Amino acid sequence: METSIERQARPGEHLALIEDEHSVTGVVQAAMANTINPRLRFVMDSLVRHLHGFLSEVRLSDEEFELALGYIASLGHATHGRHNEVVLAADVLGLSTLVTAMNNSTRDGRTPGALLGPFYRANAPRYACGDCVVQDDAPGLPLFVSGTVRGTDGTPLSGALVEIWQASPVGLYDNQDPKQPDRNLRGCFHADEGGNYHFRTVRPAGYPVPTDGPVGVLLAAQKRHPYRPAHIHFIVAAPGYRTLVTQVFADEPEQLASDVTFGVHRQLVGDLRLHEHGRSLWGEVPAPFYTLEFDFTLEPGEQTFPKPPID
Ligand code: BEZ
Ligand code: FE
Repeated sequence: METSIERQARPGEHLALIEDEHSVTGVVQAAMANTINPRLRFVMDSLVRHLHGFLSEVRLSDEEFELALGYIASLGHATHGRHNEVVLAADVLGLSTLVTAMNNSTRDGRTPGALLGPFYRANAPRYACGDCVVQDDAPGLPLFVSGTVRGTDGTPLSGALVEIWQASPVGLYDNQDPKQPDRNLRGCFHADEGGNYHFRTVRPAGYPVPTDGPVGVLLAAQKRHPYRPAHIHFIVAAPGYRTLVTQVFADEPEQLASDVTFGVHRQLVGDLRLHEHGRSLWGEVPAPFYTLEFDFTLEPGEQTFPKPPID
């Protein structure tokens, strides 16, 4: 009599019997072969192939496997409404920058993208052009930011949304710093009919990414510093155009070249000008202050918005 182990697979059926390490990958791929969504099937098939290939290449030991699973679980345990260690891990491994680079070509003069990071929050205050996003009296030199939003054909994008967030002059976001008012240094603006935006802020400082969780343990083991160069995050959006998530950097070459999250694209280095005399063009602020002019170019496409990684 035929036992269930000996019988041949019927069409569409897979008998998951493992001979040795070389038979595992194929058996797993076959088990997923009926996945309904073709994209999910393609992605999972490739994921299994690459993960299995990786495990075979490094000959992972039982102890290392246990350690790795514990590490992944610790990323989840350290993630909650106010902090996202999973996003942080993706950032310091260069995953976020690779996905951003793949999905944001610079063809036709489009502005490069940069990673969203773990500190984007919803419900930034809405401001009129020219307003100041600084809600406290923390020290730091004023920075006047202005520019124009255009489509790749040069059309100014009237009413385009320009959302910004940044760290303070001591290198902390509002959500990390109990001394800052809620949603300090965050804001949403709308460009004027000519696609022009402008706002006032303070010069941001570079900062270390959080190192008190599992990502900090990894960075220390790799003898990597945790710093990001000073930058301002931007989301620039308009109906009929692909939303741009990016950052504009404001720092010294050495800091720019060693971003722990690999986020600095050459075209995203801003020209922060220090004015030591006179007054600002708007707001009548006496020197010293900085100005930064930065234009954005969006390509036609779908307007979407990222999901905030924290509350
Ligand atoms: C940020 O720029 O906000 C950021 C990006 C990656 C890790 C930590 C912070
Ligand atoms: Fe940032």
